[in-house]
Amino acid sequence: MTNVEVLLGENRKFYPPKSLVENSNIKQWMDTHKITDLETLYKRSRDIEWFWGEVEKDLVEWYSPYGKILDDSNKPFYRWFTNAGYNIVHDALDRHMKTSIKDKIAYIFEMEDGRVTNITYSDLYKDVNKLANALKELGVGKGDRVAIYLPMIPALPTSMLACAKIGAVHSVVFSGFSAHALKDRIIDSGARTLITADGFWRKGKIINLKEQADEAVKGTGIENVIVYDWSHCDVPMRKRDTWCHDITTPQSTECETEIMDSSDPLFILYTSGTTGKPKGVEHVHGGYAVGVSQTLKWVFDLKPEDIWWCGADIGWITGHSYIVYAPLILGVTSVLYEGAPAYPEPNRIWEMIARHRVTVFYTSPTAIRMHMRFGDEWAKKDDMSSLRLLGSVGEPINPEAWMWYYINIGNSRCPIMDTWWQTETGCIIISPLPILPTKPGSAALPLPGFNAQVQDRDKNPVIDKGGDLVLTTPYPSMLCTLHNEPERYIEHYWDKSGMFICGDIARVDSEGYFWVQGRGDDVLNVSGHRIGNSEVESALVSHSYVSEAAVVGRPDDIKGESIAAFVVLKIGVEQSEGLKQELREHVAREIGKIARPEYLYFVNDLPKTRSGKIMRRVVRSAIITHDVGDLSTLANPEAVEEIEKALG
Ligand code: WT7
Repeated sequence: MTNVEVLLGENRKFYPPKSLVENSNIKQWMDTHKITDLETLYKRSRDIEWFWGEVEKDLVEWYSPYGKILDDSNKPFYRWFTNAGYNIVHDALDRHMKTSIKDKIAYIFEMEDGRVTNITYSDLYKDVNKLANALKELGVGKGDRVAIYLPMIPALPTSMLACAKIGAVHSVVFSGFSAHALKDRIIDSGARTLITADGFWRKGKIINLKEQADEAVKGTGIENVIVYDWSHCDVPMRKRDTWCHDITTPQSTECETEIMDSSDPLFILYTSGTTGKPKGVEHVHGGYAVGVSQTLKWVFDLKPEDIWWCGADIGWITGHSYIVYAPLILGVTSVLYEGAPAYPEPNRIWEMIARHRVTVFYTSPTAIRMHMRFGDEWAKKDDMSSLRLLGSVGEPINPEAWMWYYINIGNSRCPIMDTWWQTETGCIIISPLPILPTKPGSAALPLPGFNAQVQDRDKNPVIDKGGDLVLTTPYPSMLCTLHNEPERYIEHYWDKSGMFICGDIARVDSEGYFWVQGRGDDVLNVSGHRIGNSEVESALVSHSYVSEAAVVGRPDDIKGESIAAFVVLKIGVEQSEGLKQELREHVAREIGKIARPEYLYFVNDLPKTRSGKIMRRVVRSAIITHDVGDLSTLANPEAVEEIEKALG
């Protein structure tokens, strides 16, 4: 056994500092509920209606009371806090105007060039109201979908909140996605309004976003494009385009918040699935508000004096939940950063933590591994003493990266919350708490109020064996459906016994700790972002020279997985390095840079079943384990040799 193994053995535990435990939000809640130990807390919270009914009281304010805590009469379309009058913006902004939070900083916003703007809750409230009024004037109302394609600038949370305020449903598309990906999402959501910006800064250069947006809206139902004047780059304005400041400047800083039903949709966020078409995950106002604020309060233990930094992009669920909605509901101060993480120097993030006195920091294993590679000296330059808790999300964190983060960033005194969840769950589900011992590489336990299991193929719960991760009970922030595809929602996620299938493979150890190993289906996880193998394959075959393609993940030391593509060209097309490059760029244009295949190989054939289906499993084993296993169902075993030859 090497030293690392001794250090990282499965039962190696790290205990949180006593003061953290004593002062934690969860401990305080246990005290007021006369619960003296964790075992009782976990046991009692298995009564999910009791639990969520108790916690919501401290988190949200309904306009009118709910009927039932949980209505499960139309499974799997669960409804929480039924028939309550509600709008999440009331809790995120409106009610703070009556307290001292009004003058507190909501966002410490830092541009890539280092300029900092402090945005108070009341600044944000006014900006949101002005935009909400302007949207109304353009004819946007309750239930209308609004597409948002913006970088990490204050306009992004402002736009989301303005939509929610008037009851419109926002559909944010990550600004790194291509015109093509944006177009698909606009069409699927049926949005008639798009909010975007001229451009933004990335590694010292301006990225022109409006060009992409112009390309995307062609042939869609978009009638109005609202453009933020941000990077002042030259953009052509068309008849349907309006500068944001032109329509917001004349507006009032007050706007009445639309009273919604707690189960009305708040947003759609597209995520990759096993088939080509992304899934429009829909979340509601009420349950989502309760789920995200509860988990932020307990897992990251946020108090009024904390400076919180979630380093994700708002274009993904992590940013929706833990940069926009949950921190605003809790009334805390967040850092919002526009630029690249290691720019201009590798220690940009650590230097910002020191300068803004960040107390709780949340990032991804990919980012941690990237910083590990820069070398420890870059992590030692800055004063990390303000930190008290750390977090990780998006993919399994390998114990080595966990230890590096713990020692170098947390100075061996900040517990790491390795949080497991998904776009579909809306909030953290499996995670340590600041009062629990942590094990490097394990996301610990389902939080109080949530229940999960690992099952074998026969759907029996298993301990200490790999299996499918399922959620056994509903919870308030769960997705309510897939936009326009209720059937797909039922079929894709729910099994016959009413359990939610997450698509991940995991293992539960003898102490009940969960070890999530990764996706079990044909979905890649590149730098903590889900990309469907089939999405990349369809992008490749959309190129006029490509006949067939198989895309698989290849383990990558930094990114978790990198994309490898095997491409069969059309007859008569010549293979060349130039074409490889062109195809990689083609995927970047079709989906976004994040989906660009790292490896691309030309082959004459792909392994197929007798019915002609490409067997990704075989391709994957050829590249990863070099052992392709049972090939009896394969129609063309010679294709495997092709692949092995291509790999060299
Ligand atoms: C998938 C969800 C949750 C927000 C970011 C990604 C993987 C996420 C962990 C973790 C192991 C994790 C899972 C999951 N994942 N967190 N702590 N440990 N795996 O959201 O794009 O919906 O992806 O990310 O495979 O299913 P997403």
